[in-house]
Amino acid sequence: MSVSKKEYKKVTVKSLVDMKKHGEKISMLTAYDFTMAKILDGAGIDVLLVGDSASNVMAGNETTLPITLDQMIYHASSVVKGIDRCLVVVDLPFGSYQSDPKEALRSAIRIMKESGGHSIKLEGGKEIKESIKRILNAGIPVMGHLGLTPQSIYKFGTYTVRAKKEEEAEKLMEDALLLERIGCFALVLEKVPAKLAQKIAEALTIPVIGIGAGNGVDGQVLVTHDMIGMTHEFQPRFLRRYLDLYKDMTGAFEDYIENVKSGDFPNEKEQY
Ligand code: KIV
Repeated sequence: MSVSKKEYKKVTVKSLVDMKKHGEKISMLTAYDFTMAKILDGAGIDVLLVGDSASNVMAGNETTLPITLDQMIYHASSVVKGIDRCLVVVDLPFGSYQSDPKEALRSAIRIMKESGGHSIKLEGGKEIKESIKRILNAGIPVMGHLGLTPQSIYKFGTYTVRAKKEEEAEKLMEDALLLERIGCFALVLEKVPAKLAQKIAEALTIPVIGIGAGNGVDGQVLVTHDMIGMTHEFQPRFLRRYLDLYKDMTGAFEDYIENVKSGDFPNEKEQY
């Protein structure tokens, strides 16, 4: 389905705020490497997130906690080389910003200098306010991330829907307003009730991008490997699979193995 939209030759943090103002939904997906970034950018994605989900998807870890700043910089610099138009947001990994604002700024500067990414994302509200302010003061755009924050998984113990209780919902709204007030350019809301997410999106002028947060927000993000079905064990309710690449790739690999074993590959036309 094609949607009429304003042309953005390059997507910037300003374009995203503009999109929200004009009611154009923002499309965002993850990327961790050059080839995928090139395909996604060519398809017209607005934002690529070099997510710390690379820890799960690329490195096979159970959580996002083990990925390092050096590894995030490696992924981000590969993504940046593949894009022409979209905005690249890079996650600050666990342990690179929680201890104090100076360390947070140092980590953000390393990402900007060494990867060429355009902005950073970090998880949390009031508790990391000073770190966010310090990064913003250095001229680095910051995207917030509230709701389910996977870097705190051991504190909560589960990946269930957040902010179902009144008290947690109030804190979420307060944190969202705070992030806007101190200057974040956008906010990811992960796995929260749709009604609450819509209320937050309506209360903010900066875009709210949802994952498992319903359709009342200003844009959507998914982990690319999940939405194209390369991963197949993970099936949360919010995930729409656009392809079943796990099945298709397995079939292709089986065919290749069979062709090599039988001597069918390469044939006469495939040799010199
Ligand atoms: O790391 C990631 O992929 C993310 C998204 C789930 C928003 O933070």
